Amino acid sequence: MPGNVILEIKNLHVYYLTETETAKAVRGVNLEIRAGESVGLVGETGAGKTTTCLSVMRLVPDPPGVIVDGEINFKGENLIFADEKRCRAIRGEGISMIFQDPMTALNPVMTVGEQLMEVVREHNKKLSKAEAKALVIRSLERVGVKGDRFNDYPHQFSGGMKQRVIITMALLCEPELLIADEPTTALDVTIQAQVLDIIRGLQRETGASMLLVTHDLGVVAETCDRVAIMYAGNIVELGTVKEVFRNKRHPYTEGLFNSIPRLENENRRLMPIDGLPPNPADLPEGCAFHPRCRRRLPICEREAPPMKGEGHIYACHL
Ligand SMILES: Nc1ncnc2c1ncn2[C@@H]1O[C@H](COP(=O)(O)OP(=O)(O)O)[C@@H](O)[C@H]1O
Ligand SMILES: [Mg+2]
Repeated sequence: MPGNVILEIKNLHVYYLTETETAKAVRGVNLEIRAGESVGLVGETGAGKTTTCLSVMRLVPDPPGVIVDGEINFKGENLIFADEKRCRAIRGEGISMIFQDPMTALNPVMTVGEQLMEVVREHNKKLSKAEAKALVIRSLERVGVKGDRFNDYPHQFSGGMKQRVIITMALLCEPELLIADEPTTALDVTIQAQVLDIIRGLQRETGASMLLVTHDLGVVAETCDRVAIMYAGNIVELGTVKEVFRNKRHPYTEGLFNSIPRLENENRRLMPIDGLPPNPADLPEGCAFHPRCRRRLPICEREAPPMKGEGHIYACHL
């Protein structure tokens, strides 16, 4: 049973301002995550998923990114008003993030062991060097990296092994909330399942909450309690995995599901969504999805749909 709300994103708006245009990457996202809960965030490239995650970490690159409105309440504290020192403290032990590309998260000129030691000693200043090293080696071995790789450099690891190191790094701080932004997209398919299993296992074991960004609805089904479907900077459907998978309410969600092949009815043709996601610097009037929607009504071209429903909610005029 999920516990109290630990993260509450309220009416979040994040824009990227360049000389020539304003990309409205996130436009009014509302999302709550409870203690111990795992929430999937799904949507096409450019939907604003990474920007949402970076906002929670207070790591949106500024410039050009600006959080223009909204609240990010982590255990009751609005992180929008937290100074850099406070943000760093929260990134240490409150919230950790696993990034899509494992290459960017590791320092190429430091051994993996040194980097993990730094994290441990930052997090727990009372540990001796020997204790910290023992903890690092234990943690690496827990995710299937042999302890004798402590003195190796990142380039000596394969992609899958590197991501295990990063998972270790994210979890050494014992975060209450783990944000995993497409943690397996850069990996070989054969390794993806293993790495996801590790993340899932550790999340359950530690009781951390998780926000998992993925393209893969199968992963959501196996991993998450609830799922949020994101389109053009907004969450367009949100509910428990059961509700959303059984009873898709938004045509975009339907489109996402129709884009994946299924074994059981192989005669059915795939019906991927027509067209491309809109440019966040030049969004259509009304519902942002209407130009691609097979079921659009005249009103969809004029008015953005409000959120409807309770618990399982969706933004559609239908
Ligand atoms: N640093 C940046 N500068 C300008 N635009 C950006 C930047 N980062 C992201 N964007 C734009 O914001 C939108 C959302 O991007 P992102 O949050 O990365 O989406 P997703 O993770 O869902 O693919 C995209 O249109 C992207 O081009
Ligand atoms: Mg992304």
